[in-house]
Amino acid sequence: MKRIAVMTSGGDAPGMNAAVRAVVRYAVNKGLEIYGIRRGYAGLLDEDFIPLNFASVGGIMEKGGTVLRSSRCPEFVRKETRAEAASILKKHNIEGLIVIGGEGSLHGAMFLEEEQKVPVVGIPGTIDNDIAMTDMSIGVDTCLNTVVDAIQKLKDTASSHERAFIVEVMGRTSGYIATVSGLVTGAEAVVIPEVPVNYEALANKILRERERGKINCIVVVAEGAASAYTVARHLEHRIGYETRITILGHIQRGGSPTAFDRLLASRMGVAAVENLTRGQSFVMMALQGGKIVPVKLDEVLKQKKGLNMELVELAALLS
Ligand code: F6P
Repeated sequence: MKRIAVMTSGGDAPGMNAAVRAVVRYAVNKGLEIYGIRRGYAGLLDEDFIPLNFASVGGIMEKGGTVLRSSRCPEFVRKETRAEAASILKKHNIEGLIVIGGEGSLHGAMFLEEEQKVPVVGIPGTIDNDIAMTDMSIGVDTCLNTVVDAIQKLKDTASSHERAFIVEVMGRTSGYIATVSGLVTGAEAVVIPEVPVNYEALANKILRERERGKINCIVVVAEGAASAYTVARHLEHRIGYETRITILGHIQRGGSPTAFDRLLASRMGVAAVENLTRGQSFVMMALQGGKIVPVKLDEVLKQKKGLNMELVELAALLS
């Protein structure tokens, strides 16, 4: 292999730049030519390629977002579009592709190899932590720290005014961010897609806490379970707290990556190049029991990563 390319795709996640840096520097060390594809699959179709070298990725590790930029590319669900992408890669003599992104992006990568015979390696990058077979994806840790910081601040003002805050966090299909941030901030409750919510029981729990002398109340809601407004409507008249709503939104996707995310991204980036150049493609790099290992892309994508219910129980037990 002489020339490979790297792209970031789908929702950005802090640490993607650290992964790009590791891919580029390790590829250069191995004597490869490396191209960056800007704006994910949309950029691939537009032939938006830039040559990268050791120096061009200097100073990007600590940056949030992705310097390669990203996009969601709905057209990539079509086989003809993927065939076009493969012929563009061929035209540019790109022999292998590293895709950093979430589930949709990894699906695109899987089809590129399965149907179009483009060797691909995936790196899981998404704040949602909803990709199977890897303990963590790049961006999850930074996102959690951002959410925790925000909730701590809300607790300060909640206590001063004896209010309840309903905090909506990201997670369309996964309650991971809500559960872990709720657990480590001592929130009264988390409302997540995986567990049906019983507002009566939730309100009674909050009332009991109040009777015990608690002067604030935090409920963390995953966007995929309910909107913060709905939860507030169900709780406000039952709990006797004045209620405020905070929707954290895309602030959860930004910011300088934590040490954990930089390290994970660096390890996965190097391992991705190593696997690709050894001819071990059609894999995603995964973190399993502290080790970075290759796992088959199709295996990953046919599974749905379930939420570890022990975390949900722990959050309930300790709040
Ligand atoms: O997949 C990551 C994620 O941040 C989800 O948590 C969220 O629901 C979604 O992306 C938002 O996507 P967009 O930025 O395209 O609105």
